[in-house]
Amino acid sequence: MTVYQATASAPVNIACIKYWGKRDTKLILPTNSSLSVTLDQDHLRSTTTSRADPSFDKDRLWLNGVEEEIKDGGRLATCIKEMRALRKQLEEQDPSLPKIAAFPVHIASHNNFPTAAGLASSASGFAALVASLSALYQLPADASRLSLIARQGSGSACRSLFGGFVAWQMGERADGSDSYAVEVAPREHWPDIHALICVVNDEKKGTSSTSGMQRTVETSPLLQHRIQHVVPQRMAAISEAIRARDFDAFARITMADSNQFHAVALDTEPPIFYMNDVSRAIIALIVEYNRVAVANGGKLKAAYTYDAGPNAVIYAPKENIKEIVELIVKYFPQAEKFKDPFGLFGAAGVQPQVIP
Ligand code: ADP
Ligand code: DP6
Ligand code: CO
Repeated sequence: MTVYQATASAPVNIACIKYWGKRDTKLILPTNSSLSVTLDQDHLRSTTTSRADPSFDKDRLWLNGVEEEIKDGGRLATCIKEMRALRKQLEEQDPSLPKIAAFPVHIASHNNFPTAAGLASSASGFAALVASLSALYQLPADASRLSLIARQGSGSACRSLFGGFVAWQMGERADGSDSYAVEVAPREHWPDIHALICVVNDEKKGTSSTSGMQRTVETSPLLQHRIQHVVPQRMAAISEAIRARDFDAFARITMADSNQFHAVALDTEPPIFYMNDVSRAIIALIVEYNRVAVANGGKLKAAYTYDAGPNAVIYAPKENIKEIVELIVKYFPQAEKFKDPFGLFGAAGVQPQVIP
């Protein structure tokens, strides 16, 4: 008997220009374009196995060993439905293909890092889900095409279908057909940039990205300024900085956008606080580190950015990583042993926990 099963894995991506706000909550169409770096090491990944079998009575999904409900019309159901429709199309075009689109699927996914803690698990999770169904169904779809479907699982997931530097173009159409991810530059274009992940707290955050950003859209006057007058210029400027491998410009824009994202969170009613005292202390450390570098006639040496959680991601040229790790260990003596901090996009822990 043939077994129809496939496994795929996807890494997280951490945005430099943040996506925060939807103009269509069902299709997940954003209020602004965004740009991220896909982390290419094995520390922060989702791995997903999908299996289609006529003996299954319905679609089911397990996340880290616990079954998640696949609600009708929900994000999981939408992604599975869209992928199944692509398979169906293929089967209609080529009648020799096995008719597996009709079979229910069982899906098991595992994250090797904290889920829902502001480390972009929804991004790697839905990218891995779509990638595994694409492998199961043997679809010829390219990454941008798949990103249209991953986007409907979690907006940030559309960017994890590409490696390297990735933009999610917000698009204009009401049906979302022009709201997908594109590669800005491959990883090899700028291998000197590394990322250091500082896990400040690995607990599930109090306000999910989905509900937090919706509240911001409904209540923040500052968000309107951001989406109309700030992000379009920043998208152009950071794309140019990446093309030119200009770390100074990349760092300034990345830190400014992290700050503004947390400002619109604070401008929300009631206000949302994703960073904590440790997060802010890490900002102070990087600001001081950069101040000294510039005072000595140099350029910026590191950039911090925070997603919807307290955990820091620090982008820096490889030559600075060792120094930054030493600084963090010095000022955060609770920091446990760093794991592979010098590898490409090595992950490290500040406190209390090291990413496995
Ligand atoms: P994060 O900051 O980790 O992205 P979010 O609030 O955006 O947090 O999303 C977390 C949610 O994403 C989880 O509660 C779960 O529903 C979904 N998710 C996370 N990992 C996976 C996965 N591997 N497969 C499917 N869904 C996932
Ligand atoms: C702060 O993609 O998790 O990480 O689309 O509702 O699933 P949903 O939200 P999500 O939001 C990510 C927000 C962010 C910024 C970013 O990744 O661009
Ligand atoms: Co998320």
